[in-house]
Amino acid sequence: MARRTIVTLPGDGIGKTVLNETLRVLNAVGFEADYVEGDIGWEFWCKEGNPLPERTIELIEKHKIALFGAITSKPKDDAAAELIPELQNKGLVYFSPIVSMRQHFNLDSCIRPCKTYKGNLLNFVRRTADGNIQEPEVDVVIFRQNTEGLYGGVEWSNPDDNVYKALNTHIKFRKNFADVPRAELSISTRIFSKNATSRILHAAFAHALKFGYKSVTLCEKPNVLRETSGMMFKMAKQIQAEEYPEIILKNTNIDAQMMWLTKNPETYGVLVAGNLFGDIISDGFAGLIGGLGFACSANVGDEVAVFEPTHGSAPKYADFPVSIVNPIAMIASACMMLDHINESDKANKIRKAIAEIVEEGKVKTYDMMKMSGRPDVVEKGAASTAQMTDAIIAKL
Ligand code: NAI
Ligand code: MG
Repeated sequence: MARRTIVTLPGDGIGKTVLNETLRVLNAVGFEADYVEGDIGWEFWCKEGNPLPERTIELIEKHKIALFGAITSKPKDDAAAELIPELQNKGLVYFSPIVSMRQHFNLDSCIRPCKTYKGNLLNFVRRTADGNIQEPEVDVVIFRQNTEGLYGGVEWSNPDDNVYKALNTHIKFRKNFADVPRAELSISTRIFSKNATSRILHAAFAHALKFGYKSVTLCEKPNVLRETSGMMFKMAKQIQAEEYPEIILKNTNIDAQMMWLTKNPETYGVLVAGNLFGDIISDGFAGLIGGLGFACSANVGDEVAVFEPTHGSAPKYADFPVSIVNPIAMIASACMMLDHINESDKANKIRKAIAEIVEEGKVKTYDMMKMSGRPDVVEKGAASTAQMTDAIIAKL
């Protein structure tokens, strides 16, 4: 087989650091690949007015698999103010390059596993009725629709005549917003298509069946969001009944789910949701297994797949002389990449090494020691990013 080429997309802040560390682990496990780096992130927005340049899209198009660190996003006006003078006042609008990448390549399934590492001091614990402490084991996989819904980008402030007229055809708009001056209206739509909804539901059920999860929980709000969540719930029931009768379909509301996940997280297996709610529950579950330093993810489409930690660029830690952030989320995301390209034996070796390091408890980054992130944490006994990587590599 031809040697594989992986596109690396370091991005901004700690994204660059954790991606570099991850490449060291991939080399150490014997994964043979060529890497080509794609330009992405803040620097390219400021210099070129585009945080996801066309040449980067072409690279991903060509090689199909990318490892992505993280990017920095800022609100529209703040972003525009940082453009170089030559690009100012040209009507350039900042869009998050990861969101653009998901939409451009139709990476419509976002997969976010959250599984307890034994011995992690950050694991969720709860008190039982008789006062004892319990540490329930979390093993969930969140399937988040990745291209539509509230992140679809169909938005207006001060909507133009056509949009305003269309909105006025809706009785609820006339009733609730008729008195609001048009210039004071901001609107973000939540659009679900049947095709994309069906794809994410099928992906969730298929994963549950393949990996032995008993249930799929649809986490939406069909009692209020009758059209979008309502359609998704109806389709989930049909798919379960016709194609996956052996899997139990549960239905929770997003608000209640945020409460339930700290009461009985061990009762959930696969969860599936639209874009924003999937983003929310995956951070919620990540909190139960140690937080963003442990949360990995895959963005998968028919052709292209991009693997990334769910955390962002953490700018406040980006310029420390010695990096202190936890590389595990990014390394575990690379394991998802290895699974995707049928290199699960290597992925499992790395996962085993991570699990051993966490369980031994000798090497811990600052987050695993419940310290606040300051440059002096390494002097106080926390492992640096590189020391954590070294420890994982030593286990390999
Ligand atoms: P963030 O994920 O960058 O950081 C939030 C907090 O999580 C940090 O202060 C830190 O305490 C903790 N954290 C994150 N990664 C960690 C790691 N590897 N090890 C230990 N602790 C870690 O999110 P925040 O602060 O909301 O956003 C910062 C920037 O990142 C923003 O510009 C935001 O738009 C962007 N962002 C980018 C994402 C992406 O590239 N996919 C996702 C989320 C945010
Ligand atoms: Mg998020």
